[in-house]
Amino acid sequence: MELIRFEIQDIDVFGQGISKIGGKTAFIPKTLIGEQGSARVIKEKKSYLIAQAVEIDVKSPDRVESACPHYDQCTGCHYLHYSYEDEISFKKKALKNHMRKLVSDDEFDKIIQVFPDVERFNYRNRIQLHYQKNESLLGQYSTSLKKNIPTPECKLADKLIQNRVEQIYNTAGVGEFLKKARKKEGHVEILLTPDNKVTIHFDKQYSSGGFTQVNQRANRVLLDFLGLSFRTHFKENDPVQIIDLFGGSGNLTKNLANSKCYVVDSFIKKESLSTHQIPIVMNLFKKGMLGTLAQKIENKPELMIVDPPRSGFKEFSLLVESIAPQMIYYISCNPSTLARDLENLMDFYQIESISLFDFFPATHHFETFVILKAYEQY
Ligand SMILES: C[S@@+](CC[C@H](N)C(=O)[O-])C[C@H]1O[C@@H](n2cnc3c(N)ncnc32)[C@H](O)[C@@H]1O
Repeated sequence: MELIRFEIQDIDVFGQGISKIGGKTAFIPKTLIGEQGSARVIKEKKSYLIAQAVEIDVKSPDRVESACPHYDQCTGCHYLHYSYEDEISFKKKALKNHMRKLVSDDEFDKIIQVFPDVERFNYRNRIQLHYQKNESLLGQYSTSLKKNIPTPECKLADKLIQNRVEQIYNTAGVGEFLKKARKKEGHVEILLTPDNKVTIHFDKQYSSGGFTQVNQRANRVLLDFLGLSFRTHFKENDPVQIIDLFGGSGNLTKNLANSKCYVVDSFIKKESLSTHQIPIVMNLFKKGMLGTLAQKIENKPELMIVDPPRSGFKEFSLLVESIAPQMIYYISCNPSTLARDLENLMDFYQIESISLFDFFPATHHFETFVILKAYEQY
């Protein structure tokens, strides 16, 4: 495909450079404001195009050498050409853009709290690699090469997983390793169990049995924050009823032991729940689920916790209307659907705080935790 010249004017919410080219907006990943060079067009639509930088002639003074040897070709990380400090600033700016639907910029600046991770690497307790058995290929997808590339030195994985990956590539050999795969192509998950054993699973959706948080050290920081917030919103000995929507295996409410807590999810590993957590296995996206859920709950919960998948929860405001909780804790890995879901609630609830938890350093993903309090008259 043809090469185009670019000059980066801005960065979008996914950390991609933006350049105007012939009346179209070009999105060029892994570039910085002020950088100039040539790029290869990967996809072209009516109003925009996506390109990949081939040569950068004018480099930003903010550019840093990536710590990962696979960064240029691998699509797993997005921010390794910035310092971690700059990555956090971009994430905060991206969140501010999304939150404009809900709060003014001044208000955002007053209530935002940011929790960077303690280090940028070695946080993932599971990684997924893609394989093509006949070609003995194992690794991450490369947009430029349009195939999987070997990623033996992925920096995001926990050190124990890294050691195992190193063995697969360098000691056993990928061809030998892929003899265990039943399909011609698929994925393999390399997982660290809670008792620090590395296990390997071919072509399974949830190898650990249900959803689990990938970055446990960031998860602990979020749980501490949630616990402190809970204690400021509710008196210590008050019997609080909580509904934990998309609660998985009870991660978010495990420590709120003085409460009665309904954990609602389509898949719950019941043995992971504590005695104060009551499982309700339910597809929350199914038509008519609001009525079914109301029947299963004795009293109206004072606190509603919601932590949906990336697609968010379109029916959220209807459920809030029927339950009318005093407080809402909305936790999200997608600020765009988070803002959409909360927009209809702004006449009834006030945003008390917005917090950014960096669960996914080096990538454009992060978690947002919004605390909302019902207005008195509601
Ligand atoms: C982001 S995870 C949150 C899990 C949990 N709150 C935690 O902190 O570990 C999203 C959860 O949504 C659940 N889920 C996905 N689709 C669902 C559906 N249609 N109905 C109910 N739960 C669903 C998944 O099983 C997963 O546990």
